[in-house]
Amino acid sequence: MSQSLFQTIQLGQLTLNNRIVMPPMTRSRASQQGNVANDMMATYYAQRASAGLIVAEGTQISAMGQGYAWTPGIYSQEQIAGWKKVTDAVHAENGVIFAQLWHVGRVTHPDNIGGAQPISSSALKAEGVKVFIDNGSDEPGFVDVVEPREMTKEDIKAVIQEYHQAALNAVEAGFDGIELHAANGYLINQFIDSESNNRTDEYGGSLENRLRFLDEVVATLVDAIGADKVGVRLAPLTTLNGTVDANPLETYPAAAKVLNKHNIAYMHIAEVDWDDAPETPVEFKRDMRESFSNVLIWAGKYDAEKAEQAINDGLADMIGFGRPFVSNPDLPSRIENGHPLAPHDPNTLFGGAEKGLTDYPVYAK
Ligand SMILES: Cc1cc2nc3c(=O)[nH]c(=O)nc-3n(C[C@H](O)[C@H](O)[C@H](O)COP(=O)(O)O)c2cc1C
Repeated sequence: MSQSLFQTIQLGQLTLNNRIVMPPMTRSRASQQGNVANDMMATYYAQRASAGLIVAEGTQISAMGQGYAWTPGIYSQEQIAGWKKVTDAVHAENGVIFAQLWHVGRVTHPDNIGGAQPISSSALKAEGVKVFIDNGSDEPGFVDVVEPREMTKEDIKAVIQEYHQAALNAVEAGFDGIELHAANGYLINQFIDSESNNRTDEYGGSLENRLRFLDEVVATLVDAIGADKVGVRLAPLTTLNGTVDANPLETYPAAAKVLNKHNIAYMHIAEVDWDDAPETPVEFKRDMRESFSNVLIWAGKYDAEKAEQAINDGLADMIGFGRPFVSNPDLPSRIENGHPLAPHDPNTLFGGAEKGLTDYPVYAK
């Protein structure tokens, strides 16, 4: 059946083997000290190299950008060397892998950022939001986030520079490109969404102002490594991690137009993905499609049939399958051959070691 998913596609200067994306998934298994990607992670990603595109897990661009225990970074030489093991392993299996550049802003706890107060667009706490810290056990220790301080103009400049350097580091580490994490309530999302940004300078207030930080970060990424190596992830209709926009149907097509202006390789949309979430309205999907010319990826509770339909309807070019990739390293082959999918174990998603990371087998009759 799945015809469209198995057509090749051009992404920047790369030709991808299929339309199936492994979207970024935090697994919190970086080596300590120093949050360094490791051999275990290299094996995990290499096992999944038959995806048309892998976007590796969220990776902090600085010590302040970290939201949870044991997530990998890409700001030290040791971290770059760790990621090189991962990208080499994926390339040895003919895979394509992008790094997801992550700054969590207010979605963190001082314990994860060396005791500092988190930074954000505004001094607004994300109510009811928890992150996990290392509490000395192997299990994530959940704690409430704290009130951040509003970023100064100097902070904004410094973080833009961190994104620039992180993009260069990602290319040095052998990544084929980077995805800017502007979704799921993290720093850039905290600037975009009206209810998490009460600034009164040129980075807050009007829609144009709320999109300025996104615009400037994308500009620096393009300047660092070229538009053909840059993707951006947005989450228009989610309220994840406590970010809410008063008018997402207007905000996000405008954001898509900002990205289009930079001619970046792709735009990746994280749809609402919890079980009783409403469907994304099709008119909104069409609006996003019409606002962005290059490759468009949607992710969130897709199965093969729904993915085919989205591509055939012209609403998507590629589709991300998140949780299915956790437990089905050979997901493209299973989809192509109509083989059943294995369920994932929710208890081994974050933290720990090989169990639940590299021990899911390929399909066997
Ligand atoms: C364990 C886990 C970790 C995730 N970590 C990230 C992340 O680091 N960055 C991100 O943009 N999305 C992250 N997501 C969201 C996924 O990329 C994806 O959008 C979501 O799982 C919905 O797709 P699915 O229904 O196919 O799983 C994560 C999801 C899961 C299940």
